[in-house]
Amino acid sequence: MHTTKQITNNIYYVGVNDRTKHLFESLWEIPAGVSYNSYLIVDEKVALVDTVDACYSDLFLSKIEGVLGEKPIDYLIINHMEPDHSASIATIKRKYPSIQIVGNAKTFGMLDGFFNIKDNLYEIKEADTLTLGKTVLRFYLTPMVHWVETMMTFDETNKVLFSGDAFGCFGALDGGVLDSQINVDKFWPEMERYYSNIVGKYGYPVQRALAKLSNLDIQTICSTHGPVWQKYLQKTISIYNDLSLYQGKKGVVVMYGSMYGNTEQMAEVIADTLVANGIENVVMHNVSKSTPSYIIADIFRYQGLIIGSPTYSNELFPLVESMLSKIKNRDIKNRYFAYFGSFSWAGVANKKLAAFAEQVGFEVVYEGGVEQKFALKHDKYVECVKLAESMAQRLNNSSL
Ligand code: FEO
Repeated sequence: MHTTKQITNNIYYVGVNDRTKHLFESLWEIPAGVSYNSYLIVDEKVALVDTVDACYSDLFLSKIEGVLGEKPIDYLIINHMEPDHSASIATIKRKYPSIQIVGNAKTFGMLDGFFNIKDNLYEIKEADTLTLGKTVLRFYLTPMVHWVETMMTFDETNKVLFSGDAFGCFGALDGGVLDSQINVDKFWPEMERYYSNIVGKYGYPVQRALAKLSNLDIQTICSTHGPVWQKYLQKTISIYNDLSLYQGKKGVVVMYGSMYGNTEQMAEVIADTLVANGIENVVMHNVSKSTPSYIIADIFRYQGLIIGSPTYSNELFPLVESMLSKIKNRDIKNRYFAYFGSFSWAGVANKKLAAFAEQVGFEVVYEGGVEQKFALKHDKYVECVKLAESMAQRLNNSSL
């Protein structure tokens, strides 16, 4: 038996919570779990919007049956093919063999490739409609929010947007779905972390999608992850708008690796100097302890980024190198940057960090960085102070 969760008089929540996985996409931590949201629209015809992760197919089916009983589903609308939403399609098709799968041309290429499904397809194009009875659905193609086939479905009758990953967040749903019924405080940082980890590379496509949606009278957003947004709908849209414009707040992430504390001492001096120069938001991440998901989220949050690395076997410290790869992969823009490091016989890390800055196009606020041989000495202490002062000055004068 399941509690029936209604969004409007004819839209039902049939999603599930995943409180078991440690890493979403086998990469990003989800200590508070995640929800895979799916919705039933019940009219003369019945439509199911997206499915859930394969681990929860049976639970998903029983939730659907709890709403519909023996009534069949006419349409399965696939807004997004990433398997956290698509992996139960085959199960749904087995249970409802005459179901029509609604998607675009790119959806169907993936449907064939992942699941060998080629029949009962209902192809839509930009702005096409599907009428279920009183309910009229209109489809909008929103490629790269988060994959190339991504689309959104707008219920023009109920003014409900089924947005796929957009406006989603990490965190399982603890007892309620509607944002007006639950305390949503814990979801705001999880929305930023979700956006930066999952969708963050695609700021421009998100901007294009927001522009496309801006003329719709949206009263409810049903995302594929996290709460259904009604009360906080404008705040949600505003968070996505700011993040997709890479508009970091005034603040600095000091991210460093350190084997024996020498690079870390430089990081401490830099952080102290930033605060002494009026930067309230300083977040330090030792890459041997902090995890990429949280570091990436903070880099999206703040305009300044300072990276420190020891030279390790004539290379960057491997955990710093791994983080640089993840930052490059996210394609983060508009960051002020500085770098520092230490070594014992041959300094390599700073050159690599300088090359990284050039590659990603960050503005370097202290050319050449600071590089210390062995433990921190007075002259390099002074340089660390100057580096941090340069960053603080740039942020204090920033028009970003
Ligand atoms: Fe929640 Fe891109 O899948």
